[in-house]
Amino acid sequence: MNKSIGVFDSGVGGLTVLNNLINQFPNEAFLYVGDTKYCPYGTKTKKEIENRVEAIVSFFEKEDVKAIVIACNTATANSYHIKSKIPIIRIIEPTAKKALEISHKYNNYNHHIGVLATNYTIDSLAYNKFLKDEMIGVRCSPFVEIVEKGEKGTEESYNVVKEILNPIVGKVDTIILGCTHFGLLLPEIKNVLPNVTIIDSSDCVSEVLKEYLDNNIIIKNNDINNINNIEIICTGNPEEIQMDWFKHKYQGIKHVEIEK
Ligand code: DGL
Repeated sequence: MNKSIGVFDSGVGGLTVLNNLINQFPNEAFLYVGDTKYCPYGTKTKKEIENRVEAIVSFFEKEDVKAIVIACNTATANSYHIKSKIPIIRIIEPTAKKALEISHKYNNYNHHIGVLATNYTIDSLAYNKFLKDEMIGVRCSPFVEIVEKGEKGTEESYNVVKEILNPIVGKVDTIILGCTHFGLLLPEIKNVLPNVTIIDSSDCVSEVLKEYLDNNIIIKNNDINNINNIEIICTGNPEEIQMDWFKHKYQGIKHVEIEK
């Protein structure tokens, strides 16, 4: 059954998830939505984010995808109320579980996990639910803008990351990149926190998708060449998308209006 897997984020951050998913599932087709018209999500209200998540889930339902991967922590925090006939794969729980597993594996760890996420994700307490008092949250929404504008690797990006992360230096032994944009700022983050274990939410979600595909063997694709099956669409201006770091081939970026 050659249906695509829908993947979405507010912008380019979810492409870090898509990168991993393509590597892990080379025979699958993917339909990626970057909701760039409404990016960033992390400084919006609950209602505004919910509206976007509902609009994009309905879009994927109309496109008849076989699974929806919410490649965005902020959107995941606002997605638990959604009922869909299509399975929805969320990013927060697998990431939090992985961080707990790693942090508890080593006796010399202090079991303080820094969660770097958007302002909304931190304020929503979505990670606290799993990490409880082991969590130290850091509101990092300015990082999203740096990535969306293609300004990573600059003096400014190193300064912004340093200023925001300085308060947790020496306090955590594990950090969660609780926003899919943040893997693209790894050099900046490691510059401030060189000796911590880093759990990237972008890596954790593929295990859940694998479990889903393994348990639903008939929906697996076996015979397609995915180079022609990676579709990327955005709701804003395609010319503004900064994704030269994206490793896989795709057929251009299409603009689509997705409104409720
Ligand atoms: N990449 C998103 C996340 O994982 C959100 C970025 C934003 O739009 O604020 O939370």
